[in-house]
Amino acid sequence: MADDITQAGDFSVARSDFPEGFVFSTATSAYQIEGHAFGGAGETHWDAFARVPGKVDRGEDGAVACDHYHRWAEDLDLIAAAGLDAYRFSTSWARVMPDGVNVNAEGLDFYDRLVDGMLARGLKPMATLYHWELPQALSEAGGWTVRETPERFADFAAAIADRLGDRLFSVAPINEPWCVSWLSHYHGYHAPGLASLAAGVTSMHYVALAHGLAVQVLRERGVARVGAACNMEYALPATDSETDRAAAQAYDGIYSRFFPGGMMHGEYPADVMEGFAPHMPAGWQDDMGLISQKLDWFGINYYTCKRIVGEAGLWPYKGDVPGPLPKTDMGWEICPEGMEFLLERTARDFTGDTPLFITENGLANPDHDAGRPDLERIDYLDRHFHAALRLIERGVPLEGYTIWSLLDNYEWTLGYDKRFGLVHVDFETQARTPKASYHALARMLSR
Ligand code: NOJ
Repeated sequence: MADDITQAGDFSVARSDFPEGFVFSTATSAYQIEGHAFGGAGETHWDAFARVPGKVDRGEDGAVACDHYHRWAEDLDLIAAAGLDAYRFSTSWARVMPDGVNVNAEGLDFYDRLVDGMLARGLKPMATLYHWELPQALSEAGGWTVRETPERFADFAAAIADRLGDRLFSVAPINEPWCVSWLSHYHGYHAPGLASLAAGVTSMHYVALAHGLAVQVLRERGVARVGAACNMEYALPATDSETDRAAAQAYDGIYSRFFPGGMMHGEYPADVMEGFAPHMPAGWQDDMGLISQKLDWFGINYYTCKRIVGEAGLWPYKGDVPGPLPKTDMGWEICPEGMEFLLERTARDFTGDTPLFITENGLANPDHDAGRPDLERIDYLDRHFHAALRLIERGVPLEGYTIWSLLDNYEWTLGYDKRFGLVHVDFETQARTPKASYHALARMLSR
């Protein structure tokens, strides 16, 4: 590695370009970094999924991950030393309730230490209650395709609120509802790996219901700044054909309009419901009031655009094809304009004056691991920071920006191969090494 790693690149923006009080943060999630084998955590559906041959690269799981369970203090020091304002982390349901129901005191104690550790370092704790690992016992009982799971989730939300609620800066019940439901139950790409339209649609509604039930519980307990963290992709038709245009609209509706519509207006988009209606769980309309309780902020995770392909007679879409823009190590096109489009549309059509946060943005890049400074990460973030500034200039109420991720970590079906961190992790020794992007970010935040 070049000697000048600390000085290898710079951002073209500074913190002072953003409004006073704009919140810069970085994010991780429990299963991706903690080491799920430690602290009495229960089996999750990701542990089970990783054991199924062919589902996860090299069969890797989150048993050890970044060993954050033992190294959390060092990791919080890194966040504070970069000059970040906040830390977006998640609480593992199976760590707190190993069977999904009964509390493991060690699990709650861990998050208690973690939150106090943030406050001691001047970091605002931004909690996400569920970032994808479902207690396996609940998965076996039907997981997100049955109503009992959102009901149990409300109890988990209550346990977190009772223990941590007085010290959290913000809370989002569910990270990326689209991934929890559609990606995992229709595409079958994530745990539990179901691949059916009925399971996809049912889980979309039950995940929305889980959000609503958790919001209710958090409000009852007076928890501050209750919001949401939805992912969105900028859907473009692969060609100008009628079929591809219809497919892109369907992709966009399911991905980027379904949850904002339900959460903000109590109404799922009419075009999506044309395909979903026959598969919705009985009585779903009665849940819409609960799903659409007032939120204090709305978060969007944004990474890329997709070129969507349709097929005559097939709803919703066939798939996507690679586009012409430069791509990250995930094969995802770099398209900050998509973030601009989606945030502006979300504010216009769904969230109005509700403050928006970019709750995730970042890229996988192999450079640091290959002995080069990760200049591509600086460039990627810089271009998205400029997009954020343009949004603010146009009056979009954007109040914060979260970089995924602090550490290289467990990238789900792709295992440990895809490196999203501002800080490199050597998974043999667990050594942390800040990358060029980390040093550049620290300079940018100090200016
Ligand atoms: C979204 C997810 O929230 C996170 O878990 C994942 O690692 C990143 N995007 C990158 O794919």
